[in-house]
Amino acid sequence: MCGIVGYIGGRNATPILVEGLRKLEYRGYDSAGIAVLEGARSRVVRCRGKLGELEKLLAAGHPSGTTGIGHTRWATHGRPSDENAHPHKVGGIAVVHNGIIENHLSLRAALAASGRTFSSETDTEIVAHLIDAELAAGGGSLGDAVRRALARVRGAYAIVVLSDAHPDLLVAAKNASPLVIGLGDGEGFVASDVPAILEHTRRVIFLEEGDVAEVTRAGVTLTDLAGRPLVREPRVITWSAVQAQKDGFTHFMLKEIHEQPRAVADTLRGRLDLIGATTLLDEVELEPRTIRRLFLVACGTSYHAALVGKFLIEGLARIPVEVDLASEFRYRDPVIGPEDLFVAISQSGETADTLAALKEAKARGARSLAITNVVDSSIARAADLRFYTHAGPEIGVASTKAFTTQLISLVLVAVRLGRLAGTLSETRAAALLAELATLPARLKEVVDQAAQLQAIAQRYGHAKGMLFLGRGPLWPIALEGALKLKEVSYMHAEGYSAGEMKHGPIALVDADLPVVVLALRGPLYEKTLSNLSEVRARDARVIVVATQGDTEIRAHADEVFFVPDVSPELQPIVATLPLQLLAYYVADLRGTDVDQPRNLAKSVTVE
Ligand code: G6P
Repeated sequence: MCGIVGYIGGRNATPILVEGLRKLEYRGYDSAGIAVLEGARSRVVRCRGKLGELEKLLAAGHPSGTTGIGHTRWATHGRPSDENAHPHKVGGIAVVHNGIIENHLSLRAALAASGRTFSSETDTEIVAHLIDAELAAGGGSLGDAVRRALARVRGAYAIVVLSDAHPDLLVAAKNASPLVIGLGDGEGFVASDVPAILEHTRRVIFLEEGDVAEVTRAGVTLTDLAGRPLVREPRVITWSAVQAQKDGFTHFMLKEIHEQPRAVADTLRGRLDLIGATTLLDEVELEPRTIRRLFLVACGTSYHAALVGKFLIEGLARIPVEVDLASEFRYRDPVIGPEDLFVAISQSGETADTLAALKEAKARGARSLAITNVVDSSIARAADLRFYTHAGPEIGVASTKAFTTQLISLVLVAVRLGRLAGTLSETRAAALLAELATLPARLKEVVDQAAQLQAIAQRYGHAKGMLFLGRGPLWPIALEGALKLKEVSYMHAEGYSAGEMKHGPIALVDADLPVVVLALRGPLYEKTLSNLSEVRARDARVIVVATQGDTEIRAHADEVFFVPDVSPELQPIVATLPLQLLAYYVADLRGTDVDQPRNLAKSVTVE
């Protein structure tokens, strides 16, 4: 999510850190900062805003030294502010951190009980305290203190530690968030992403889970968390700077599709309480007995998430749900009041229509919840309650990982409501949550088969258009598949409820119209197969997304793409990825501007 740069060498660290952070600006961020060792003390300069703001502060007197760390922050715990910007300094320890510490609340309580006080709302400050406490307790090196501190931490992190008392050392550690060490001549670098250091060195070591690196001017020493030595061979990066921004993928959209297993894991992190068979929803405290109805309101791709949300919440919590396009809701004189919960779903948190709809609902007395990816965005601030999707910045204009993490968020909200309403048994909730925990690995299985979708795209990518069909909770995914295809490839596409298809779109069906059918095993499988037969009878070429292990489906299809066998509530998520990949590969084949399609904007802040 955020960006990290660290430097130790013979040159002035400040410009190297600031320029490194600039190379990561494309990732999106809301605050920035550096810490540089000046003699025996590090000086921290940090602020809310863009690097330009930081540079203004640095112009007034920048720290001068040859060892330092820098960070661009994308808020997760705590709003974007000067205090929450990294680095966080506690005693002589300065820390920058990417990721999410799951047990930060219990660690904060334990540290507070031992008399420690905090100057930010972040989970990162906890890590700085833990390391400082370990050093104060004595025994061992800075590396030992970091390892002992991390043994108490659960969650995802990439951290770099700078210590006043250890001027010739940076300690870096990684678990589930990327971190790379750059090897220079008499100097060393640390970065969350290769572009930050590419102009200085191409010899790098990618850290693996649980690695701790002690970086000096002479080189790097690696251990695991228990302090056992490790050897990792350096690699030479041959990517260009532009390729490096995309992790070697040809487009951000493809990179972000592949990031979804990680993004989904981040959405789930700290929110699954399997023992209590409930879900922990941060700031969200819902009381279903007082909720008469929910309104899920959104635009674009987020509207498709809302449509899935209706199935999830009505199915698991038995509370009626209305779904609206924000641009319609705001002008239709909606019947909504204090007993209703208005849920705004917005990746950016800034969409003008969604914000206006939220204000309209609040003016009529409804309570409100924002499901969004951007901490402290306008919609997050305007709502009474917030649930952050933690997908990380999305750069491709066509939404991919932001959408799947919205779906995950809606499953969590539905499970929570179902448990509170007493409509969802503890056993069923526990089973669903256990299955959710396996989802990142299942999604990885899907993206690992991307080549198959590339081949399908090559066979059908020149068609005049495509029709996408699904039923039940897969109907909104058919809509999303069609939207994604038209957004990025400019091919005309239509998504339809498979059962409704006979009332119109069937007139379009012929041998030149490929039809994508979402036919996963479940309560509506047989019905969907009947609809599939209707289009086949009219000579359509049929591409089916089916459940792994479905041995009969090949007889009904020209192409089959198998997805993992999951519960119906999670099928929309596994079925989305192949459609994103299909859209991407058709667009790539047609040579469109995949990441910035014509006429589209990532964040639509005008009506
Ligand atoms: C724009 C984007 C879409 C997005 C929609 C809603 O049209 O191009 O990808 O789905 O806005 O955005 P939001 O940020 O509210 O989810």
